[in-house]
Order: sequence, then C-alpha cells, then structure tokens
Amino acid sequence: MLEDLKGFIQPGSREEELALKIDFGRMPQHVAVIMDGNGRWAKQRGLPRMEGHRAGSKSVRELVETALRLGIPYLSLYAFSKENWKRPRREVTTLWRLLEDYLRKEDKQLLENNIRLKVIGQYQDLPGKVKKELDRVMEQTKDFERLTILLALNYGGRAEIVDAVKRLVSDKDFDVSALDEQEFARHLYTAQAPDPDLLIRTSGELRISNFLLWQVAYTEIWVTNKYWPDFRKGDLLEAVVEYQKRERRFGDILPRR
Ligand code: FPP
Repeated sequence: MLEDLKGFIQPGSREEELALKIDFGRMPQHVAVIMDGNGRWAKQRGLPRMEGHRAGSKSVRELVETALRLGIPYLSLYAFSKENWKRPRREVTTLWRLLEDYLRKEDKQLLENNIRLKVIGQYQDLPGKVKKELDRVMEQTKDFERLTILLALNYGGRAEIVDAVKRLVSDKDFDVSALDEQEFARHLYTAQAPDPDLLIRTSGELRISNFLLWQVAYTEIWVTNKYWPDFRKGDLLEAVVEYQKRERRFGDILPRR
C-alpha cells in the first residue's frame, strides 16, 4: 500500500481492504464528481437543506485529502450549476456564504499540500464577495501542481461549448478549415486538464446533468446511492477499485491502458 495512506487508513478496515486492491500505477488522472443529495440528506434528518450543504462541505474536505493521498492529479467538483440559480434566494445566498467560509478556512489545506484551485464556469457572474475570496486563493495556489481542483461554479456544459465557439470565432486568425477536436478542446474551460477518466455521482441518479459534456465522451461512470454528505474516503477507494476493473476500449476492439 502507498506510504501516503498509512495513518490515514485503519489497519483491518474496509478501507484498507480496498486500498490493497488498488494498482497505483494505473490511477485515474482526472476524477470528476457530481456531489448530489445534500437536500435529501437533510430532509431525512428533519434538518434545513442548508445543513445538508454544510455537511457536504465536510465530505469535500475528505475527498480532497483522499485524492491527494492517492496521487490523483485532477479533481473536478460540480458545486453550483447555471441552473442552481432557480433555487430559493435564501438557499443560493447561503450556498455562496458557505463557499466563502470554506475558502477562508480551508485555504490552509490547499497551501500546505500544493493544491491549485481553479474555477470552471461563467466566473464573471459570481457574487463579488465570493469572487474576491476565489481570486485570493487562486492567486496563492496558481503555481502548485500536486493536485488541481477544478471547481465548477455557475457552470453548464452546453454553455461551456457555446463559450468555446464564441472564443474561437472571435479570434481574428480563426481558420475554420484547421479546426479539429484538439483545437476545439483548447478553448474549453478545462483546456489545461486531461479528460476525466472517472465520473462519480452520488444519490443514485443516473444523469450527467450538464456536467463536462464534451469531456466525458469516454469517461467511466460510477454511481453510489449514498447522499453526498455521507461520502467518505472508502467510497473514493471503492470507485477507484471499480474503475480499475473496467475495460476501456475508446471505440477500439482491444482494451487500452
Ligand atoms: C447537490 O445537492 C449539491 C449542491 C447543489 C451544492 C454542492 C455544495 C456543496 C457540496 C457544499 C459546498 C461546496 C464546496 C466546494 C465547499 P442537492 O441540494 O441538489 O440535493 P437534493 O438533490 O437532495 O435536493
């Protein structure tokens, strides 16, 4: 087992059993996560929805630490979609406040562990106070490379594709005959990251929900029935074990590694 997991995982636990099954030479390089079920988790306990989001932010912290220890270099987190603005105003404002608090408190986790934070989504339309915190943390972490977190905020997969088209055609040197998939992908918000190898979704829903539409073309999908606030390190380990059992052919007839 990897040195970084020692002390993080209890000997004799389910987590250890899973960790021993992992081939560390074949880790997914990019894991994308649709963190779903905060509201239902809260409802089940007779709590306000906001308590579900608060508990969900603790799962984010544990996910980041686990990904770091596993040596996963890219993590995308779907935190706020373009469609989430439709929620009651109070829920929306409290979600942004929660993110601000998270950035204030958890910036240490990022700074001490060489974690770079980037935002994907329509950044210009985020509330000013959140942008201020994000700008600060993104600036402080911009040269880190151990793990990159792509935080999806005011994000929509279709909007990302439309924005890429706008950026392409507004370039005065744009040459349509030279356009191919690689060139197009360089204009997406995720230009600097590889496509996700693994997409995790919680709360049992079998949907992509407008997340990384272009990038998930050949991504392996793993869904758990657990609500996001119940997601723990063992769940990421399980997802990686399951991912490593899949045969990835990318349209070919032979598996590719
Ligand atoms: C989905 O649950 C969750 C969200 C829309 C927000 C995600 C936010 C967090 C995990 C907390 C803060 C984030 C960070 C990065 C610190 P839902 O509300 O759609 O749940 P439901 O489908 O059960 O109603």
